[in-house]
Amino acid sequence: MSDTIHEKVLILDFGSQYTQLIARRVRELHVYCEIYPCTTDLTKITEFKPSAVILSGGPKNVSEDDAPLIDTAVYDLGIPVLGICYGMQLTTHVLGGKVSASAKREYGHAKMELNPECDLFHGLDKTENVWMSHGDRIEKTPSGFTGCASTDGSHYAAIENREKRIWGIQFHPEVAHTPNGKKMLENFLFNISGLTGDWTMRSFVKDSIASIKNQVGDGGVLCALSGGVDSSVVAKLLEEAIGDQLTCIFVDNGLLRQGEAERVMSTYAKHFKMKVIMVDASDFFLEKLRGVDDPQAKRKIIGPAFVDVFVDEANKLDNINFLAQGTLYPDVIESVSFKGPSAVIKTHHNLELGDRLHLDLIEPLRELFKDEVRAVGEELGLPKSMIWRHPFPGPGLAVRTLGEITKERLDILRLADAIILEELNKANWCDKVWQAFGVFLPVKAVGVMGDERTYENVIAIRAVTSKDAMTADWAHIPYDILSKISNRIIGEVRGVNRVVLDITSKPPGTIEWE
Ligand code: XMP
Repeated sequence: MSDTIHEKVLILDFGSQYTQLIARRVRELHVYCEIYPCTTDLTKITEFKPSAVILSGGPKNVSEDDAPLIDTAVYDLGIPVLGICYGMQLTTHVLGGKVSASAKREYGHAKMELNPECDLFHGLDKTENVWMSHGDRIEKTPSGFTGCASTDGSHYAAIENREKRIWGIQFHPEVAHTPNGKKMLENFLFNISGLTGDWTMRSFVKDSIASIKNQVGDGGVLCALSGGVDSSVVAKLLEEAIGDQLTCIFVDNGLLRQGEAERVMSTYAKHFKMKVIMVDASDFFLEKLRGVDDPQAKRKIIGPAFVDVFVDEANKLDNINFLAQGTLYPDVIESVSFKGPSAVIKTHHNLELGDRLHLDLIEPLRELFKDEVRAVGEELGLPKSMIWRHPFPGPGLAVRTLGEITKERLDILRLADAIILEELNKANWCDKVWQAFGVFLPVKAVGVMGDERTYENVIAIRAVTSKDAMTADWAHIPYDILSKISNRIIGEVRGVNRVVLDITSKPPGTIEWE
């Protein structure tokens, strides 16, 4: 689909943990970009028709034997190149400058003296705070380059060759610790590369609809709905593009929250015109999970069971040619960015569905990050409750019911979980947390209710704040709300006589208990 976009930046990934962040910053400036591994050959690079190239940082030092290199023809394409950290050292190394390992790693905040005449630094003060993370440093620039900034640890914190339109910076403009990093990227994209920043979610929706129409023709498309934001946005895009050529399937695996299946179906009925088939497969999943208490074993059963149910239902339909799914950009690039350039691109497990059904895939979101998917959802007029829904794991309550799963345990958890969410909602706390839910603990505790001794189960309250689920802190919910939740659970949910609060951050904990 990127063929229809005329302003594109290519980010060559040398394995930095920040590569995705560079992409997100560029896109926040309304410039479309993609990440390719640094091993991509020149033909593929030119086929992408980039308007500018950014070379990411990376974990290697240029002097190491297996340090990734670059085809120097990239510098002769006649488009601006910006090397960040390793990208700058590499540029220096391959164009004839000198890079050496410095005795001291420069890591963290640094004060940088800069030349405001340098194109990258227009509009900035002479001194800026920047974020450094490097071992190597530039000793001598390649010919034609001049230095335009320095810090205590780096004589050359930024270099430029205006004639050849190549820039290099030792620090990371993409991280929040470089407060004016965005301004520097703006300078690179707009002043240096002459871009206008016209890529918006509105233009994405328009292009995406045209491209779906083109791909599908008069064929039929099947889409798996989960109630989550990704699959809902995919379905809405398809509905706009091909109307009643779309059929959706929603599988109730019996591991959903209280009233969830009904709620999801009624939201769809209200906001979509398409046909949605609901399959109640609760008994099938429960039977498959009987006697299983290991968390990974549960996951290994639930994934394939979903595929079986879905395939069975899909086979009852006629005239289906495509399968639509909500693969996101991080699924496509994840391994390249986090495990270094040699890693194989992760195969999305849902690919199995396409194979089993012999259907071609339509993945309209495969170029988007999660926050962009939400923006597309807003553009398409989906309700806030759908767009800002807390993430809910595919294996559902199976990984929140510790140990063996039974219908009775699931029902207890559903009631307790509903109380937690209801009270948080009433107190306007749902929007303040990333996720909040109950966990069923299969341990028995002694209690006393009225004059009776009880010996019942325990429910844990798990609520976390987070930006991306990679790290999380336990949410500091006020005592009065917690107290209300606890009283209500013990008073209203038979089979529970104790409520505990999980105060573990991630790391070292995970958000889910299993
Ligand atoms: P953890 O527990 O690893 O969770 O800190 C991070 C985020 O991922 C969700 N999660 C899952 N989502 N299938 C999913 O679709 C899974 O097996 C799964 N396990 C965890 C979790 O809810 C949190 O948002």
